[in-house]
Amino acid sequence: MVSTISKQKMYATRIDIAQNVREKVIDLLNQSLAATLDLKTQTKQAHWNVKGTDFYQLHQLFDEMAGELEEYVDMVAERVTALGGTALGTARLAAAESILPEYDLDAVGGMEHVTALADRYAAYGKHLREAIDSTDELGDADTADLYTEISRTIDKRLWFLEAHLVK
Ligand SMILES: [Fe+2]
Repeated sequence: MVSTISKQKMYATRIDIAQNVREKVIDLLNQSLAATLDLKTQTKQAHWNVKGTDFYQLHQLFDEMAGELEEYVDMVAERVTALGGTALGTARLAAAESILPEYDLDAVGGMEHVTALADRYAAYGKHLREAIDSTDELGDADTADLYTEISRTIDKRLWFLEAHLVK
């Protein structure tokens, strides 16, 4: 993917993390910001449109999950700015940069939405686990910790989703 993201302006900061490390971490965080925003809006899409006998519990579950993602959007964006970078978090940028596929717009019933979200939560979870390793290798333990926190929640939510799919 040709990224507009790596060409972003850096700001001076007194933080004791080398600029070349910060630049790499910021690029990764902005990719994650795009994916997190994308997943949040997809989860809301499920919240609004799910139908069928499990409607109410799934409608509520999806809203809880979207709320968590909204918090992570903010945490990821603010880690970018704490490192002297520019957070790239508009809807257009998220759509252009997200690693996730578009939502299943034909999903109607509960299990169709659960499956669509499980696929995307799994892909996002893989991205997070790779990001934990990358930021750890770069020596940015704080960003690795942020990714670890998000990753733990995403794994739990994947379990919640997949528990609905067991026959
Ligand atoms: Fe709502």
